[in-house]
Amino acid sequence: MDFSVYLLTLTLLSLLSQCTAQWCYQNQYSCDDTCRDPTRWAAQFPSCGGLRQSPINIVTHKVHVNSALQPFDFIGHTNTNNITVQNKGHSAHFLLPQSVRLSGGALPGLYKADQFHFHWGGNGRPGSEHTIDGERFPMELHIVHIKEPYGSLAEAEHDMAGIALLAFLFEETTDDHPHLDAVIAALGRVQNNGSSTVIPNFRLSEIIPAAKELHNYYRYVGSMTTPGCEQAVAWTVFHKTLSISSRQLDAITRQCRFWTGQPMTDIFRPTQPLDGRVVYRSKASTALTSVIHLLACVFSVVFGTTDLIN
Ligand SMILES: *[C@@H]1O[C@H](CO)[C@@H](O)[C@H](O)[C@H]1NC(C)=O
Ligand SMILES: *[C@@H]1O[C@H](CO)[C@@H](O)[C@H](O)[C@H]1NC(C)=O
Ligand SMILES: [Zn+2]
Repeated sequence: MDFSVYLLTLTLLSLLSQCTAQWCYQNQYSCDDTCRDPTRWAAQFPSCGGLRQSPINIVTHKVHVNSALQPFDFIGHTNTNNITVQNKGHSAHFLLPQSVRLSGGALPGLYKADQFHFHWGGNGRPGSEHTIDGERFPMELHIVHIKEPYGSLAEAEHDMAGIALLAFLFEETTDDHPHLDAVIAALGRVQNNGSSTVIPNFRLSEIIPAAKELHNYYRYVGSMTTPGCEQAVAWTVFHKTLSISSRQLDAITRQCRFWTGQPMTDIFRPTQPLDGRVVYRSKASTALTSVIHLLACVFSVVFGTTDLIN
């Protein structure tokens, strides 16, 4: 064979393998594998090597308080819907109807819900994506919203706030989360990539608290945490955690399989550098502020001072 033809063939073959290599999580990767672990996502998806990547570790003593971070308005969260659940090969997506929306939260406009999904560990290992002061939580819920009038992630990806992602961290409790069993049962019906099922009569408000209970949150600009790592996300990580029992956690992490057939465990991306970004925190809730104000009033009446107020 002519040497240049040989070179060309080699180049084509390597290009082909680059195109077909699947991305994977760290625990799926082994040396004889062709899948791309998180350290090599950027080779195929350049945004994954960008300067505004997610998830991050939130260092609480470095966050900046920002009084513009007002509460959210949740729209349609109490509606009852039949929702479709799909095993996507890397995680399972719970598709939400467009009647579920949100505004407020210092976001520039109205956002419609697209899907939610979870990130988990396995066998007692924690699996949240965001960490707080280095602590990884057992599980994390992501609710993905697309800004109006965009119709898809592809359309929204050129807008730094094209996607609003709400993140809830889970804490392990002795009691079951009262409404997670329908979610767990659905995951048991979508064990393999490509399979799907329906959860009848689902209400998002049964999984997450009402907006009025969610005044406290962190905000930063970042990316999707799976390839293509689009840097179009206004991230909200709520202080309030959701509860899950160890029984439920164990059931969640045991059911699904990756597209490779391996157990779907440890589905989180390692935390990414801040690269100069600032993490903001909403002000203490108004209830707490008014308690402090009330105490200050009582104090000033009792001690005859007025300079404590204002
Ligand atoms: C959900 O599905 C049931 C049974 O298929 C149907 O009767 C009901 O109308 C559906 N609900 C909604 C909100 O579409
Ligand atoms: C998962 O299945 C879908 C179709 O059911 C397929 O298009 C996709 O490539 C599969 N994902 C992986 C990672 O193999
Ligand atoms: Zn996610």
